[in-house]
Amino acid sequence: MSTRRVLIVDDEPLIRWSLVERLRTEGHDLIEAATAAEALDRAEQGVDLVLLDYRLPDEDGLVVLKRLRDLDPDTLVIMLTAHTNVDTVVLAMKAGAFDYLTKPFDLDDVALRVARALETTRLRRELRTLRDTLARPFGLGSVMGESESMQRVKTLVRKVASSPGSTVLITGETGTGKDLIAKVIHYSSGRAARPFLNITCSALPEALLETELFGHERGAFTDARQQKRGLLEQADEGTVFLDEIAEMAPTLQAKLLRFLEEKAFRRVGGSGDVRVDVRVIAATNRDLEEHVRTGRFRDDLYYRLNVLRVEVPPLRARESDVAVLAQHFIQAFSREFKRPVSGLTEAAAAALKAYGWPGNVRELRNVIERAVLLCDHDRLEPSDFETLPIARSRAGSGHGGFGLPAGGVNLEEVERSLIAQALERTGGNQTRAAVLLGLHRDQIRYRIEKFGLKESREPAMPRPAD
Ligand SMILES: Nc1ncnc2c1ncn2[C@@H]1O[C@H](COP(=O)(O)OP(=O)(O)OP(=O)(O)O)[C@@H](O)[C@H]1O
Ligand SMILES: [Mg+2]
Repeated sequence: MSTRRVLIVDDEPLIRWSLVERLRTEGHDLIEAATAAEALDRAEQGVDLVLLDYRLPDEDGLVVLKRLRDLDPDTLVIMLTAHTNVDTVVLAMKAGAFDYLTKPFDLDDVALRVARALETTRLRRELRTLRDTLARPFGLGSVMGESESMQRVKTLVRKVASSPGSTVLITGETGTGKDLIAKVIHYSSGRAARPFLNITCSALPEALLETELFGHERGAFTDARQQKRGLLEQADEGTVFLDEIAEMAPTLQAKLLRFLEEKAFRRVGGSGDVRVDVRVIAATNRDLEEHVRTGRFRDDLYYRLNVLRVEVPPLRARESDVAVLAQHFIQAFSREFKRPVSGLTEAAAAALKAYGWPGNVRELRNVIERAVLLCDHDRLEPSDFETLPIARSRAGSGHGGFGLPAGGVNLEEVERSLIAQALERTGGNQTRAAVLLGLHRDQIRYRIEKFGLKESREPAMPRPAD
């Protein structure tokens, strides 16, 4: 641990001297102040901990404490009081003091408490750095797109993020960025330092989803050996993201509605209410209105969720964003794969723009990922999207471009030949060959073994690093 700077504020030189002497042996960097004015002056230069006398000649110790906390909320303060005056101690702790010491001091006790406070400061700072790092990818700036409709979405997201607790409904087709927007709302809000927990409602059977969300009491059912806190409790003061909300079972819809209205719920098997402060963000790529009309989704829950709604437009409705997003993904993947691809040719940009993108931004992202991985020139060309849905959509065969010959084929033969060709084209690089064929690396390895393609190549062709 690097040297920690401790500021000792007391108007009595003898007290300062004894503290400095003792704490110096702990290896701390010690500075002194005899008045409030001096203390604030020193603190401005940056300190890790302040030992602050309650009674100072020019200012009340509590006032100095508040100023110090305003200056840097991470700086901890230990109050020094003349005797055990309970009122004084209570006031100091309420004003944000970390600890207190009463005179006359037991110097070993002082050293111990100083060490503890410094460790707390270190951990707090570390945590803050960690949180900043985690939150950075989900700032508003991470939502790409300058089209009018995306600008409207971003303005709305900014407003929603600054409203502390309101429930949000995000709708839009698959791959339009609903997950991303939910995270951006959380990490741009006052809740950013608290958990963001998500759950996909369609991924779990009803009973499991219920205990995941609301938790259960001990003995609530056979396997419930202990009490379990649900996501809502774990995310207290944070956000819970309920993905694919349209798929939530009716009984759970009722429980969720109660929670949204009363901010209270019961654990499964519980009899008392649990209160938490959680923002709920729900998302769906379904037509929720249609679900309401057909009775699959409760209308009262729908109205409760629909107060603040972010509708993410499909990519085909914001053509101008295609190039912006493509460029963004090219940069990201060229960095990740260390490939020197810098952009798109005009023809490639036009081809991407013309495509309908049924899978929206996710599909575009995948298309760019493949192209960057496989291309060996500076700018992506239409031919880099050859095997992709763009080419197929133009061919319009609906069969991915392969016609079955009248006499039929030997499927294994075709497979073997395609794998051999892919390896040929990528100079034996299995990762890139797998991408060409839409296979996972393990899948291509398995087939290479199966068809005995490995032995014949490897001695002749050393493989470039994957
Ligand atoms: N505007 C955008 N800017 C940058 N990246 C985006 C944008 N929109 C989506 N993405 C990226 O596209 C991918 C798909 O987005 P996301 O998972 O948020 O979609 P979704 O709407 O939740 O889809 P689904 O309905 O299938 O759950 C993610 O990798 C996401 O980061
Ligand atoms: Mg999603």
